[in-house]
Amino acid sequence: MFTPEIIQRFEQTPTPFYHYDLGILKETLSVLKTEADRYNYHVHYALKANVNDTILNTIREYGLGADCVSGNEILKAKECGFESESIAFAGVGKSDREINIALDNDIFCFNCESIPEIEVINELAMSTNKVAQIALRINPNVNAKTHHYITTGLEENKFGINMWELEDVVNKLTDLSNIELIGLHFHIGSQITDLSVFKGLCLRVNEIQEWFVQRHFTLQHINVGGGLGVDYETPDNNLIPDFKSYFGLFNEFLNLLPNQQLHFELGRAVVAQCGNLITKVLYVKKGVNTNFAIVDAGMTELLRPALYQAVHKIENLSSTNNEQKYDVVGPVCESSDCFGKAITLPETQRGDIIAIRTAGAYGEVMANGYNLRELNEVLFT
Ligand code: LLP
Repeated sequence: MFTPEIIQRFEQTPTPFYHYDLGILKETLSVLKTEADRYNYHVHYALKANVNDTILNTIREYGLGADCVSGNEILKAKECGFESESIAFAGVGKSDREINIALDNDIFCFNCESIPEIEVINELAMSTNKVAQIALRINPNVNAKTHHYITTGLEENKFGINMWELEDVVNKLTDLSNIELIGLHFHIGSQITDLSVFKGLCLRVNEIQEWFVQRHFTLQHINVGGGLGVDYETPDNNLIPDFKSYFGLFNEFLNLLPNQQLHFELGRAVVAQCGNLITKVLYVKKGVNTNFAIVDAGMTELLRPALYQAVHKIENLSSTNNEQKYDVVGPVCESSDCFGKAITLPETQRGDIIAIRTAGAYGEVMANGYNLRELNEVLFT
């Protein structure tokens, strides 16, 4: 991934910055598309993972739709050329402004999470003479076996409509003239690496579908959300996620009704491996039991390690010999501002270029201005 020419460019670019390898992105999209097309599955890219314009334009060129979680993401998707009929809008707290943006743009579907939300969409749709297509986001009570901050499909989570509420919800729908129920939506969590979790989701969706069939609902769309995980520990062994097994599993275990369309909302699996956070070593400092490599990026540029104890592979691109252990830390006055403890790196010194890998998803988008810090311009190769 990092040729001597690329490392030279890194050395000449102000750090810290995000680097995106468009070759990896395109290869990922090409495999994803081939595997999804085998079964005519529709994939909506979850913009929340990365909203860089070049990345969005590339994703759109491969024919993916968009999954948005805010009005501004809908506007961004439109600006980057995503078709309205490919845009799904999710979120447990959609504001009136955001709902109006979605209505004005005639999006494909609102994924709805409560009766009060559906009532507001109905009201706003009525006042503009529109009929909003909705899917019910159902909480399937399936454990995603991932970090608890990114687990969303358990009854205890704030997301979705629980099974025991369904009767009330569907009864309510009959009173709402500006709402059309077109499907069911599920999303149980993110960074799911145990594929059997998705098998569990399929079996649960089959049961839930049965509930609707018995009540003579014909739903044209099933949306199973996102969540496919990536290899953070050894990215080079698995640069392209195993889309073949992932889509194959849904084909094997999910029972679709005749003409029913299956949708996915993948974020991380599309963009994680094409991105790296590139940073420079400022100082190496001797600690009691370790050396600290203090770099010029921090939790302000990549929040995942501080927030989820996430592992990202760390590489020194400037040095090769004499391996030692380092705690790689940022400059922010927070002890959680640490990218990795006891990381084996070649002997590291001031000015060395460090790559923090697999940072294409939920990296740049979650960067924040704490300490008035700023990212430098992105570099594409
Ligand atoms: N659909 C819905 C309704 C979602 O809530 C999410 C992510 C996705 C799709 C996309 O999931 P993915 O395929 O990317 O796993 N900031 C966290 C991840 C938060 C994910 C939230 N929802 C992280 O850095 O790990």
